[in-house]
Amino acid sequence: MAFSALAAGIPVPLAVARTNLIGFRAVSRGLSENHEVAEGYSARVIIRWGDRVATGAASFNPDELTADTQSKQFGYNNDFIAFMPLPASSDNSSRGLLCVNHEFPSAPLMWPGVAEAELSWAQTQVEMAAIGHSIVEIERSHGVWRQAKNSRYNRRITTSGTEMRLAGPAAGHARLRTSADPKGTRVVGTLANCAGGVTPWGTVLIAEENFQAFFGGSPRRNPEARAYQRYGLADDPIFVSWPKYSRRFNLEAEPHEPNRFGWIVEIDPYNPNMIPVKRTGLGRFKHEAATVALTADNRVVVYSGDDEVDEYVYRYVSHGRINPSNPLPHGDLLDNGILYVARFDDDGSLRWLPLLFGVSPLISENGFDSQADVLIETRRAADLVGATPMDRPEDVEVDPRTGSVFVLLTGRSDTLRLQPSAANPRKRNPFGHIVELRPPRRNGVADHGADSFEWGIYLLAGNPNVDSDGAFYPGPVDTDGWFINPDNCAFDGRGRMWIATDGPSEEVGFANALYAADTMSREGPRRFFSAPRGAEVTGPALTPDLETLFVSVQHPAQDSDYHSPSTRWPDFRGPPRPSVVAITKQGGGIIGT
Ligand code: FEO
Ligand code: CA
Ligand code: CA
Repeated sequence: MAFSALAAGIPVPLAVARTNLIGFRAVSRGLSENHEVAEGYSARVIIRWGDRVATGAASFNPDELTADTQSKQFGYNNDFIAFMPLPASSDNSSRGLLCVNHEFPSAPLMWPGVAEAELSWAQTQVEMAAIGHSIVEIERSHGVWRQAKNSRYNRRITTSGTEMRLAGPAAGHARLRTSADPKGTRVVGTLANCAGGVTPWGTVLIAEENFQAFFGGSPRRNPEARAYQRYGLADDPIFVSWPKYSRRFNLEAEPHEPNRFGWIVEIDPYNPNMIPVKRTGLGRFKHEAATVALTADNRVVVYSGDDEVDEYVYRYVSHGRINPSNPLPHGDLLDNGILYVARFDDDGSLRWLPLLFGVSPLISENGFDSQADVLIETRRAADLVGATPMDRPEDVEVDPRTGSVFVLLTGRSDTLRLQPSAANPRKRNPFGHIVELRPPRRNGVADHGADSFEWGIYLLAGNPNVDSDGAFYPGPVDTDGWFINPDNCAFDGRGRMWIATDGPSEEVGFANALYAADTMSREGPRRFFSAPRGAEVTGPALTPDLETLFVSVQHPAQDSDYHSPSTRWPDFRGPPRPSVVAITKQGGGIIGT
């Protein structure tokens, strides 16, 4: 077995020929009020919080934020990015739709002298309009990306104003019904949209992650108390003004409303009138992302991590197949299939465990009366079948060159692991690590539908010069190449893996960044783009020609406030503004070469 040496927790790199895929000089790791990109590249902001998106949007005025204007403007804390070429199904790299998640608001940076607990109802409504998703048409002219004027595709999707449909096995279930939706099939809005994915039929999947942070009221006096506890719902959530003013975010008033969040949402960006669909078949947890692959016989696979300490890695496999050369709209493939959770065995093998109602232990004696119950309480179902608790699963992405699946585990800050396992070998792991999964090959391709994979440690993050970090990298690492807290990643199809980090930059004294690594030659990681102070880098996405790399700069100036922000990036006047940056090579060319 290729990974047998790893099974004992001893990481061993694969020996393969060097291919010199990474041809840029590293940027330095220091904190800065501005971003920094490798020499020879340009990094230009293309859209910022408050920029116009929908028809009739007003220009940004930080002194007068209203829910109405915000609902037409680019939202706050951009995360996942998909670049969807125009026309649809083309590989046009000069015109397309930028599809961007907005994860959470930040009152101390949006208003002067205001904490979350002090928000008015009007300000809370601004927050509700500031998160969700934006679809914006962009075009490249003379090497520079700009928003296209008056695009019919431009759209804001918000928590407060966009109706969505529930689909799949849990749709209509009694536990999804509320006073506003007695049938349990329609939901207003989406929450905590973190990363996502793209389907072969040209839709975007967005992940609802920390939905619990927006609900409050006593989680105990309630028939859903056990589920609330498992998902971390609390009396005093982070966004405490939401349940204070809005009945549906109050657990006592609407005990089922939280069950309508924590799903994967499908959006067709090419159809501005499309009603987004929450696909319950993919399970309910704090979804980091949703990465699509295919089985050897063309069934649809979706990988997703549950981002919390000691949570799990999941995989969905559809019953039906697509025709990869003509992948027509197939959203219902996401409604009919099997959800699995991963068990990482210490011998280097991985077993995908199905979460099926009626198969012990997912039976009535354990509180599951239908597949809907299994999906609404996915975490508890996964506990019972014996999944492997991981050190905070963030992104899960597939290297199209090799078929390997990379799981980015961002670490466990202050908590010690009571039972280290081969897949999570460090008792103390504030740094995170990356695990590589290898599906077996069938008919010459990686079969993402197989019941068993092999797995190995790709890297253990931390400083390789500090013994107590216990770091391991697949090859030599230069001074600025090591990192902590891997979060999101993207592959460019030629072998470069782009790794984005989300560490406590102010505390550790170096900025979050985007790194390039070659997963076959084991070259890198090398630091390509540094975020401004307080920010994390998210959402790396490439155009089909690989000549533009988009990144999200999320929460610049985090942990400071409106009057004294640690940076006023990107304009250096007014408040800091989370923004999307387009990186191109000066004179053109493939990014990273
Ligand atoms: Fe929203 Fe797990 O990062
Ligand atoms: Ca993330
Ligand atoms: Ca994170």
